[in-house]
Amino acid sequence: MVKLLVTGGAGFIGSNFIRHILKEHPDWYIVNLDKLTYAGNLENLKDVEDNPCYRFVRGDIADRELVDRLFREEKFDLVANLAAESHVDRSILDPAPFIETNIKGTQVLLEAARQHGVRKFLQVSTDEVYGSLQPDDPPFTEASPIRPNSPYSASKAAADLFCRAYFRTYGVPVVITRCSNNYGPYQFPEKFIPVCITNALEGKPIPMYGDGLNIRDWIHVEDHCQALDLVLQKGRPGEVYNIGASNEHTNLEIVKTILKLMGKPESLITFVKDRPGHDRRYAIDAKKIRQELGWAPARDFVSGLEELIHWYTINTSWWERVKSGEYREYAEKWYGSL
Ligand code: NAD
Ligand code: DAU
Repeated sequence: MVKLLVTGGAGFIGSNFIRHILKEHPDWYIVNLDKLTYAGNLENLKDVEDNPCYRFVRGDIADRELVDRLFREEKFDLVANLAAESHVDRSILDPAPFIETNIKGTQVLLEAARQHGVRKFLQVSTDEVYGSLQPDDPPFTEASPIRPNSPYSASKAAADLFCRAYFRTYGVPVVITRCSNNYGPYQFPEKFIPVCITNALEGKPIPMYGDGLNIRDWIHVEDHCQALDLVLQKGRPGEVYNIGASNEHTNLEIVKTILKLMGKPESLITFVKDRPGHDRRYAIDAKKIRQELGWAPARDFVSGLEELIHWYTINTSWWERVKSGEYREYAEKWYGSL
C-alpha cells in the first residue's frame, strides 16, 4: 500500500486533491495534516471522512516534533505539501505567518523527509514566484528567473529554493510544480472568482483593483489535481513542472462573464484602489509537463464557471458560514485600506 502525506488537505486545492487521489488510487492510504487556519475547513472533506483509507491529523507543518513523530509512525512513501498561507492580500497586511508556514514549515517537512526517507516529495508552488509579465512577453517557462513581488510569492520562492537545496545537498527526491490561478468548488471566498460569485449572489458591490486589466491564466482545480497526481508518480526528482491551461483573461473579462452567466448587472463592478505591488500578468508555458508526462487540461472554462456558479448557488450555507466568520474582520480591514 502506498502511504501519502498530504499537508493543507482541508483547504481549497488540498481537499480537491484528496478526493481525486481516493477516487483514482483506492489502494493508497492518505494522512491529511492540517492546522485548520481560517482557510482550513473539514466540511470540505465531509464525504471522505469515514473512508478507511483516510486519516486526519490536526497540526502545524512547522511543528518539528509533531512532524517527526508522524513520519516515524506512518512511514510515508510520498509527500504532497499543499499547506500554505495562500492569499496575497493577507500577506500585504501581515507577512509574518507566511514566513512561518511557507518557509519554515516546508523546511521542517523536507528535514523529516531527509531523516526518514521518502520516494517523492512534491512541493506545490505557484507561478507567482516568477514575478510579473508585460502584455507582449512570452509565458513563463521553468527557466524563467525567480522574481517574486509580494510577501506571499517571496515566501513561496524561498520554499522552492529550500527544496532545490535539499535535493542538491541531501538527495531528497523533491519535485516542484508551479501552477497558475485555480478556480473550482471549495475555494475560500477571499479569492477573486468566489468574491465575484458570492457578492453577486448577495447583490453586493464587486471590488475591482486598479484598472481591472491585470491578467491571470485560469485553470480548473481538477486539471491541477490530475497534474499533481502525475507529477507525484512520474515527475523526475530535482525538476520543476509548470502547470497551466493557456487561458488568459483580464479581471474585467472574468467579472463580466460571471455577471452575464448569472444574469446580474455590470453596475455591481466597483473600481477601488490597486493592490500594492500588483503583478500585471501571469501566463504559463506548460510544454514540459505536456510533452514529458502526457498531461493535458480537460475542462472548458465557461462551462466550468457555469458549474461553479451552480455550486456556490446550492452551497450557500457553506460560504455564508465562511464569510460570516473571521473573514468579515479581515475584509473590513483589507478593503477598508484600499
Ligand atoms: P488554501 O488557503 O485554501 O488552503 C491552505 C490550507 O493549508 C488550509 O487548509 C490551512 O488550514 C492549511 N495550513 C495553513 N498553514 C498551515 C500550517 N502551518 N500547517 C498545516 N496546515 C496549514 O490554499 P489553496 O488555494 O488550496 O493553495 C494550496 C497550495 O497551492 C498552496 O501551497 C498555494 O501556494 C498553492 N497554489 C495555489 C494556487 C491557487 O490558485 N489557489 C495556485 C498555485 C499554487
Ligand atoms: O497564480 C497563482 C496564485 O493565484 C496562487 O499562488 C495564490 O495562492 C492565489 O491566491 C492566486 O493569487 P492572485 O493574487 O492572482 O489571486 P486573487 O484571487 O487574490 O486575485 C486574482 C486577481 O483579481 C488579481 O489580479 C487581483 C484581482 N482582485 C482580487 C480580489 C480578491 C480584484 O480585482 N478584486 C478582489 O477583490
